[in-house]
Amino acid sequence: MIYIDEIKNIFVLTTKNTEYAFCVDNIGLLRNLYWGEKIDSIKDYEIEELVEVSTNDPVFEITKEEYPVYGGLRYKENCLKATFSDNTRDIVYKYLGYEKSDDELIIKLKDKYYDLQINLVYKLYYEFDLIERKAIIINNSKEDILLENVMSAQLHIPYENLTFRNTHGYWAAEQQEFIQNVSYGKIVIENRRGVSGHNHNPYFILDNNATETTGEVYFGALNLTGNFKGVIEQTQYGETLVQMGINDFDFLYYLSPNEKFETPEIVIGYTNKGFESMSHNMHAYANKHIIKNSNIRPVLYNSWEAMEFKVNAKEQIELAKRAKDIGTELFVVDDGWFGQRHSIKNGLGDWYVNKEKFPNGLEELIKEVKNMGMFFGIWFEPEMVNPLTELYKKHPDWVYNFDNRERNLSREQLVLNITIPEVCEYVFETLDYYLTNYDIDYIKWDVNRPISEPGAKNLLKNERSLWINHIKSVYKIVDRLKKKHPKVLFEACASGGGRIDFGMLSHFDDFWTSDNTDAYDRLFIQNTYSKIYPIKAMRAWVTDCPNFLSKRVIPLEFRFDSAMMGALGVGCNLLKMSESEIDICREKIKYYKEIRHIIQEGKFYRLDKTLKDNDYYSFEYVLDDEVILFVFLPQSKIGHRHTFIKLRGLDENSSYEFTINNENKTKSGIYLQNHGLKIKLSGDYQSMIIRLKKI
Ligand code: DGJ
Repeated sequence: MIYIDEIKNIFVLTTKNTEYAFCVDNIGLLRNLYWGEKIDSIKDYEIEELVEVSTNDPVFEITKEEYPVYGGLRYKENCLKATFSDNTRDIVYKYLGYEKSDDELIIKLKDKYYDLQINLVYKLYYEFDLIERKAIIINNSKEDILLENVMSAQLHIPYENLTFRNTHGYWAAEQQEFIQNVSYGKIVIENRRGVSGHNHNPYFILDNNATETTGEVYFGALNLTGNFKGVIEQTQYGETLVQMGINDFDFLYYLSPNEKFETPEIVIGYTNKGFESMSHNMHAYANKHIIKNSNIRPVLYNSWEAMEFKVNAKEQIELAKRAKDIGTELFVVDDGWFGQRHSIKNGLGDWYVNKEKFPNGLEELIKEVKNMGMFFGIWFEPEMVNPLTELYKKHPDWVYNFDNRERNLSREQLVLNITIPEVCEYVFETLDYYLTNYDIDYIKWDVNRPISEPGAKNLLKNERSLWINHIKSVYKIVDRLKKKHPKVLFEACASGGGRIDFGMLSHFDDFWTSDNTDAYDRLFIQNTYSKIYPIKAMRAWVTDCPNFLSKRVIPLEFRFDSAMMGALGVGCNLLKMSESEIDICREKIKYYKEIRHIIQEGKFYRLDKTLKDNDYYSFEYVLDDEVILFVFLPQSKIGHRHTFIKLRGLDENSSYEFTINNENKTKSGIYLQNHGLKIKLSGDYQSMIIRLKKI
């Protein structure tokens, strides 16, 4: 709900359990008044008059501004820095008014002298306790205005000494959670690579001694891929500030007369019920408003780990037959099927079917796959080109470059400048050709290197907007393809999980979570992923052992159980598997199909370890009357102790029936939540899935 006190200029946004309030004060500043648990009493808000404490502490520094601009006596991080055509580098805004609908509020600000308008948009997601914020900068003047920094929002958290959580990582080590105490000074998380990043993720989680189920958590995630920046600052005035948006690193944008610049949205939320409630709200929001294709995800087979670049029609058909036999529903040919792609050195850009590998074209394989009743998917790396290709020979000017600089290769490839309309069209047409002429249901869209030598002369004076324009072109291509081929699912991959963010998920359907397919490592990667991002989009494969990365050997059952926690896939070399292993695959996939609606659409619970010195990991999914419990014991410790797993999210007044160790049992919800379920696993890499049903 949106409440407005027209006399005092107070705006109160309420969701089911939370409230966000701000005002326009007597000197025209847009000031945050509150963010936290719901109050629902607009009449109680008062606007304190600003009083300068000392000349060293100007009111602008102390004031909780909703969208601080660079100008006047402001020295902290700003949300908007601009230079006008007469070189004035200072913004002074005044309040123009507002526009309101049921779930959206737009606050309009304007520079006091120049025709620069700032619209701040607040969109409410009432049932999920979330608010989306963004800013729209409009040039109503007759001259260009140079934007040097444009953030999506500033947020004020009324505490010091909070705990900040985000991810660090690198290739095959994505989603490693770090937890940092916030003190005086700034924490900066960012990406400067343009296309991908395995390190920081564009979200913030700040808590005040929270646990999974208790305590206050403030959080937000940016709808942006690539160059983002987030600043968390505990100020000297007793609060913590957050700013997130497009990275101002190497960013400049000349806003032409009558042009608008829109920031990506940041979705923000508050809960006093711990991280679990944060994740539930974010997952529900993503499933309903971010993910466009809400269908249950098929079980896929992907050929990458089994064959790498050595794909050919004969073996792919053999693999597809086995993949069908074990129960997978979607067969994806990964890298290696096109051009002269025998290794990383060549092929990208020459998107013709390799005749030596597929003498009868892709048609033969697709026909086999379709005749078996499976979906067909194929890999592309559309934003890239290898210098050895025909495409590069023909269009050496199609990549980002500076005239007098060597073009740095990474994975032997260069990044196509898809901000050039012709190049963008080429990428669209290439994919459109395949989707039009072949019966393709799934595209795995990969990207395996960052942008370097970021020259894009085509953008003229706005060359330094290429970081944001590149990703906008990606979004545009995928949106156009989806419009024309609506049944096709798109998987976002960037050397594994380098593009996991709401920007991607607003356009793509699945994430390839990590090239690290070690089932034990995945428990941690998936755990951190689940804090913000929805389970349905989390692709997880079962692959061969010893794992190519960790060299670990993990029983196939555990590997399946770990991968079944998301959208299941298989990447094993099925041609080399024993009959008993094939049997396990069949059995596990059959079971996954029975429970996947609960996994992909249920509420997800990261259950605590309940016994000290015990290394059981447990996770739970609840959808209506159905419950799935995953338990993992990576390593037995002395004594092979049992554990009691206290379930959550059950109906306390109902009973649940389930089978454990071949014994049928019935227990009340209240017993399962308070006493817990006794589980004993022994050995290393042991796991168990228990399905409970409310009666
Ligand atoms: C990186 C991806 O993460 C892998 O799954 C695979 O598709 C390779 N690229 C192919 O080159």
